[in-house]
Amino acid sequence: YVIGIDLGTSAVKVVLMNEKGEVCNETSRSYPLIQEQSGYSEQDPNEWTEKTIDALKELVEQFDGEVDTIQGISYSGQMHGLVLLDEENNVLRNAILWNDTRTTEQCKQIYEMVGEKHLIEITKNQALEGFTLPKLLWVKQYEPEILEKTAVFMLPKDYLRFKMTGQMHSEYSDAAGTLLLNVGQKQWSEELCQLVGIDIKICPPLVESHECIGTITEEIAEKTGLAPSTKVFAGGADNACGAIGSGILSEGKTLCSIGTSGVVLSYEERNDRDFQGKVHYFNHGKESAFYTMGVTLAAGHSLSWFKDTFAEKESFESLLASLTEVPIGSNGLLFTPYLVGERTPYADSNIRGSFIGIDSSHKRNDFARSVIEGITFSLNESIEIFRESGKTVDTIISIGGGAKNDTWLQIQADIFNATIIKLSSEQGPAVGAAILAAYGCNWYESIEECADVFISSAKTYTPVPENVEMYRQLYHLYKNVYA
Ligand code: XUL
Repeated sequence: YVIGIDLGTSAVKVVLMNEKGEVCNETSRSYPLIQEQSGYSEQDPNEWTEKTIDALKELVEQFDGEVDTIQGISYSGQMHGLVLLDEENNVLRNAILWNDTRTTEQCKQIYEMVGEKHLIEITKNQALEGFTLPKLLWVKQYEPEILEKTAVFMLPKDYLRFKMTGQMHSEYSDAAGTLLLNVGQKQWSEELCQLVGIDIKICPPLVESHECIGTITEEIAEKTGLAPSTKVFAGGADNACGAIGSGILSEGKTLCSIGTSGVVLSYEERNDRDFQGKVHYFNHGKESAFYTMGVTLAAGHSLSWFKDTFAEKESFESLLASLTEVPIGSNGLLFTPYLVGERTPYADSNIRGSFIGIDSSHKRNDFARSVIEGITFSLNESIEIFRESGKTVDTIISIGGGAKNDTWLQIQADIFNATIIKLSSEQGPAVGAAILAAYGCNWYESIEECADVFISSAKTYTPVPENVEMYRQLYHLYKNVYA
């Protein structure tokens, strides 16, 4: 058996998988966001550790085999979050998370210090509020005494792994989202650190995602009930693990994953493509590979906001079931999902969302459908960038909340004008983490072979030409809203 741990933004999810790639059990524990001011989003790293231990303990208690048959553990984690540790490895402040937008000023400073073009040459990415370097510079500017005490910075799941093994590392797929990594060359950029005034010594050593870091500590073994011999593998960023767990492991494979944020992600073998920073370009959890990715910040978040605000008593299922009662185009209502700003393609943390075309005949369900269509239009803007760059996007694996409803899956097929595949047992990034552990334990020759065993598709949704044409016209309107 292996365990995949996904340290998410709202909860940690833990899955136990066997050699056939079957999910034998899963547990999760949630934790809150700390939002002291508008735009702030933090979490207490100690809570991640405690909740993960709790979830693992429950998983082990429910396991009726010998614990030492659980051979390996690996991780997937929310990206970009900044954890700061002092010389004694104490956490110096709450972690500042990927969805915290306080750092607009620091993004500007990065462009002034490095130059936008040069930054993209080194990191392949734009300076965005969510990334780690702007957060480090914010701490430097507003909490200088904390940066002075900092011995190392860590990313969320790397910190959790450190607490479970006593070993301090990062790995390429998560390091790519810091804006301090030379993504093409796979090393921390000394030049960049110098230009922005960050000591390279605070960057942790880098390993590959499937690399064995060691075993869990005696203390963690005792607290969780796991065997002290349980091997620990580095793991990857949640999007890299989502890609692995959906088989996005060769050229031409594309993933649409709708969680709190939504991403469209495309496999990339080369390290020298130039998207001018329009989409993110990160190292994959598969060695020597990359992926490009566009992000809609409020994807699932738009739907949960809508439900909490206008349909509190209803379940997501019944809300989504009502989609079929409204025709394509939501009877003239158009929604833009910029509730917390937007990443791709606008990189604008100040823009806010809208409903446009509200008519006195509109009912609640028209709004619900327009929310779903607006989220999907936003994701299509990323697909459009891929297609304009010459990539073929004709088949997309859809996972997450967006893959839980047939109508939404068909809306994706029609708006993306691509065949959508739904997976049979879809556990998202946690399965990607489990695959990394299984591959690390040498269960299979390659990560691809492992993915073939762990992943199978369940259902296909084909674009309907008249729907594609209707959505093409509506998408044209949608694109004009931002300007
Ligand atoms: C990716 C990003 C989000 C987080 C969510 O750049 O910010 O997808 O990884 O966990």
